[in-house]
Amino acid sequence: MSNFKPQLKIVTMAVAVAISALMTGCNDNSSEHAVVKDDAYYKSLAEQMVAQMSISEKLDIVSGPGMDFTTFANNTPINLLSDASGVAGYINGVKNDKLDIPAAKLADGPAGLRINGTRDGDSGTYYATAWPIGSLLASTWNTDLVQQVGKATGEEVKEYGVDLLLAPGMNIQRNPLNGRNFEYYSEDPLVTGKIGAAMVEGVESNGVGSTIKHFFGNNSETNRNYINDIGEPRTFREIYLRGFQIAVDEAQPWAVMTSYNKVNGTYVNQRKDAVTHILRDEWGFNGLVMSDWFAGNVMGDANSAAAQMNAGNDLIEPGGQKTNLQASIDAGSLTEGQVTQNAVHILTQVQKSPSYNHYAFSNNPDLNAHAVLARQAATEGMVLLKNNAALPIANGKTLATFGVNQVNTYKGGTGSGDVHAAYTVSIAKGLANRFTVNSDLQDYYSTYFATNKVEHAGSFGGASTYSCDEATVTNNSDLSTLLTTAVQTNDTAVISIGRQAGEGADRTNAKGDYLLSDQEVDMITSVADAFHAQGKKVVVVLNVNGVIDTSAWGDKADAILLAYMGGQDTGNEVADILSGDVNPSGKLAQTFPGSYADVPSSSSRAFPGVDTNSDGTPDDVYYNEGIYVGYRYYSTFDKTVSYPFGFGLSYTTFGYSDAAVTANTLSKGAQGSVTLTATITNTGSVAGKEAAQVYVSAPEVKLKKPAIELKAFAKTSKLDAGATEKLTFNIPAKILASFDPSSNEWIVEPGTYKAYVSASSNVTDVTPVTFTVDKEIVVSHTTAGALALPEGVDAATVTTITK
Ligand code: BGC
Repeated sequence: MSNFKPQLKIVTMAVAVAISALMTGCNDNSSEHAVVKDDAYYKSLAEQMVAQMSISEKLDIVSGPGMDFTTFANNTPINLLSDASGVAGYINGVKNDKLDIPAAKLADGPAGLRINGTRDGDSGTYYATAWPIGSLLASTWNTDLVQQVGKATGEEVKEYGVDLLLAPGMNIQRNPLNGRNFEYYSEDPLVTGKIGAAMVEGVESNGVGSTIKHFFGNNSETNRNYINDIGEPRTFREIYLRGFQIAVDEAQPWAVMTSYNKVNGTYVNQRKDAVTHILRDEWGFNGLVMSDWFAGNVMGDANSAAAQMNAGNDLIEPGGQKTNLQASIDAGSLTEGQVTQNAVHILTQVQKSPSYNHYAFSNNPDLNAHAVLARQAATEGMVLLKNNAALPIANGKTLATFGVNQVNTYKGGTGSGDVHAAYTVSIAKGLANRFTVNSDLQDYYSTYFATNKVEHAGSFGGASTYSCDEATVTNNSDLSTLLTTAVQTNDTAVISIGRQAGEGADRTNAKGDYLLSDQEVDMITSVADAFHAQGKKVVVVLNVNGVIDTSAWGDKADAILLAYMGGQDTGNEVADILSGDVNPSGKLAQTFPGSYADVPSSSSRAFPGVDTNSDGTPDDVYYNEGIYVGYRYYSTFDKTVSYPFGFGLSYTTFGYSDAAVTANTLSKGAQGSVTLTATITNTGSVAGKEAAQVYVSAPEVKLKKPAIELKAFAKTSKLDAGATEKLTFNIPAKILASFDPSSNEWIVEPGTYKAYVSASSNVTDVTPVTFTVDKEIVVSHTTAGALALPEGVDAATVTTITK
């Protein structure tokens, strides 16, 4: 307590100085040396502001005005100083004779700032960088690089006059068919949390906000506004919440966006246990919580907005709920005190924003520098899945390029995770920029695409996209003739396969989606047969939003590059890898299973869910695999996979040696940790980077556990041939811990732990090092009963995959 008082005094003095500045919305810098401008400081000011507001003004703060002037009749944001066309929403301001708080602007998203590239009656352009998709960034396993991407993205947010970015997306890639997996990082919560924290830190280093989303359980798109996730608290804690927890712990983002779905019968944004007890009380989150757009059935339920306020969901987006909120106050189901608290949470963050501080944005972020960084980040994430001496392709070799995707190249997914970029470099163009290509073939595919493409109107404010059935080679005399010539005149075949997906719909385990279409199989077979007959190699490039089957056709390819969606320079990036200008160092942050049937959530009960009211739409999704998601399942239940989590090839080879536990302070309890080191040596002949991973196999005392769990990772710098680097991995007790539902505690169980320092989650040939924990460590106590299964639902009927 005695420590606390002087600090309060400073804040009080600062409040006295700064409150006089509220009228201008600017803070007085003259007292800056005396003030720590942390959340406590801004909260004090926010409380002073809110104390001067009418209930009507407070309700304006907690309920946004609508989307970019389009959603509601009277939706001009209050005290908007300037607009940025295409933003997704706003936080209202206040303007009266006592207060002058400018409105704040909120814009998507996970692959870059989503605002309109052009504006009516304005010759300027406002294009933003289309960065590699989230899954590709995570595959870099490079938090420093992701932080740089965040910093550059945040610069665009700031210089285009926006205040809060609605990103990163941090849901778990539970099932490969989730349409929005491209926005997300990984099937693993540690990767999700670490990459997410790096992104938040980068974005917020500009003095703009970052919003981690969608908290939590938005792991499918089918009936996403109403879907009910049924699962056990341990499942949610260890897998679906943990990435968010790590990001809050490490980066304390300005904002959290709650998800659309229900968990165990109640919308997440109406669950006080999730939004207040877990997020704020247990994790210490200081920021603002906003709803997803129109989430919690606000348009169908007049009481929804009040229920969200009461749960601690501070801001209803895009808004329009003032009348309903006032009615709830009149009816006694919402108090002014609650609204005050919500408004304070919001204004605490708003004060840090560029709009509040009257930042004179340039509309001129450094797009050229960002393009270079985007290309670097994408090439560092692309994963070389297979390479039978086909890559890199030497200078002077000529390419025959196949597949309509080389023309119809996808820079990113659809929906709010899309970006209005100035350009997209197709794979055809990128390869032509770097190699001599067969132009007759490229001309054929350009014409074929122009003739056969099908336009799909953009969803969620996005641009139109195109699909186009692949051209078969068999029974197609034009393409057959071109193939016959190409195989004589070109050295290597490069086949592009594309898959688009996005917000609002899931993918299917069908031909043309998770599986290759018959036409694609025909193309790969025909090209491979022809080129292999001449002793020439075939490379397949996957320009996909997520996992597709590789087991049925992978043997026909000599090399497979998982390019994902690399943003605006996708084609050039593919050329960078194929040429060897960049040595691939990406590794999978999601498993490529042997088949869709092997996915632990592949039963329809688990994904996309059970239609309980027979309206043709799934209502309940059972998290039947519990904590056994992704590699946790495949490794524990000995399932063969096509490509394991953590796997990726390089043009060089790496040796792992001297793995050792160098410190074990776990006897200190919750504050303790274990430290490991290992030496990585470039044992091949070209320079490259290696992402090393530490998987832990924990003793089972009270709790069953996956065979292995990722507990740390690190990436080397670029090592020259023969060079070595010693990597250090620190695993704090809280990361080692498992959730014990019987005591509502995070615990580290006693016994001997095996740690595998490994190149992937396939640890079969890795000798583990060990460390011991003498007695159980209780890392933290949690809220009793939080996230409990609905009354009458038995855990054993929900979680059917158990050890
Ligand atoms: C998406 C969010 C997005 C919001 C605003 C919603 O449909 O789920 O991720 O930030 O729209 O565009």
